[in-house]
Amino acid sequence: MNDALARAAAAVQAAAPRAQADPTRPIFHITAPAQWVNDPNGPIFHKGVYHLFYQLHPFSDGSGPKYWGHVRSRDLARWEHLPIALAPSGEAGEAEIWSGCCTINGKGEPMAFYTSIAPGKPAIDHAEQWAATSDDDLVAWKKSPANPVLSEALHGGTKVYDWRDPFIFRDGKKTFLVLGGSLNQSKGGQAVVNIYEAENAELTKWRYRGVLFHHPDPEARTSECPNFFKLGDEWVLFVSPYGKVQYFVGDFDPETCRFRPRTRGLLDHGPNFYAPNTMVVPDGRRLVWGWVTGFPGGRGWNGCLTLPRQLSFSRAGQLQQTPAPQLTRLRGKPVAWRKVRLDSDRKSLMLPESNTLEIESEIDLGSASGVGLAINSGNKTPQVLVNFNGLQIQVLDVKAPLTLAKGDRTLTLRLFIDRSVLEVFANETVCVTKRIAPLEANAALEISAEGGTANAKQIRAWPIASIW
Ligand code: FRU
Repeated sequence: MNDALARAAAAVQAAAPRAQADPTRPIFHITAPAQWVNDPNGPIFHKGVYHLFYQLHPFSDGSGPKYWGHVRSRDLARWEHLPIALAPSGEAGEAEIWSGCCTINGKGEPMAFYTSIAPGKPAIDHAEQWAATSDDDLVAWKKSPANPVLSEALHGGTKVYDWRDPFIFRDGKKTFLVLGGSLNQSKGGQAVVNIYEAENAELTKWRYRGVLFHHPDPEARTSECPNFFKLGDEWVLFVSPYGKVQYFVGDFDPETCRFRPRTRGLLDHGPNFYAPNTMVVPDGRRLVWGWVTGFPGGRGWNGCLTLPRQLSFSRAGQLQQTPAPQLTRLRGKPVAWRKVRLDSDRKSLMLPESNTLEIESEIDLGSASGVGLAINSGNKTPQVLVNFNGLQIQVLDVKAPLTLAKGDRTLTLRLFIDRSVLEVFANETVCVTKRIAPLEANAALEISAEGGTANAKQIRAWPIASIW
């Protein structure tokens, strides 16, 4: 282990007792052993193991120079921490390791691509894309002698600002890489995603193929963490524009390297979701993790990743997100109710005695115009509130449009409460990630309907075990 890695590991280890004693720290969402976490990086399945990296500032629970932390899993349910994977090579003029991806190159070697930030140079107008290769355990990384593998010179006379966050995808025999960025900084910046094509099997030589995507919103200043991939018959682009993460769905022409979006939406409507990253799993499905943002400092840890979510399209062509099915392995003993008649009188159901829970409910709206769920514990205002009025779902203060398919009156809700993290999935199409106050003892689910009667066909709640 080099000195930079050893110093970072010691700092994380020293902060761990305090972080791990904090009662607000999630237990079934991925966190670092301690200290600051932001974007998920480089998810990859290799030799039977799921690997995931994340932006880590090892020296405090606030943001600072970034490294790549590393976790792995054999089943997507239980995870283990591995040594910090990538540290800046100070001697080679590197100050930070920003976000990126992993892939296996044409020689069969695992590779990481990331944005390298130099000391004292602002990321807005100076960045390079570097690569590293590793053993099959993805533990011992070596920076590529070809670094920078992509440099700004590729763009000729065009200046790209905030040029970062490499993501690799393949189409047929071609390997492409996309990077976020911004043009026309003098006019405030205009978000673009640039595309590059690999010129050798080692993936160390790249050719600039132009702008894949011009963001249609003039107010979109940049496009952090682009992910571009085929899902079913469609092409999907994710961008993080310093605001809620957007997805675009459309067509990609690999000859011209242009993406034509037809529809768009928000990946998550909550205020605490950003910079998602995706991977393909052996059965061909695509999973996404996001960064759960917005935690207070001073607790020895800060930030976690969302649950892995499986992506698909509904029959009506809407992008769907479903918690990875393997997560059911974390469920403890269920508490269940069937055929609960809902009207304006609130029914109160006692939840399992835990502040790490999953609650699933399938509600037939019947003659009701809306339904409401609240979770109360202690004597405080509800920690969780979900209301649906047939057109809109509201989770605490977050509102999102949600319409039911014609003839369908079913609302299926899955709520994951992990101490201070709430993730809600409504009919698999609307997701909300939000920080909450942890539940106290004796939490109850209160549920009612408005304007008629509804039928909660099934409500189940489980305590959820730690992923570690
Ligand atoms: C997104 C982001 C990325 C960058 C990384 C730095 O949250 O700003 O664009 O690579 O975080 O930590």
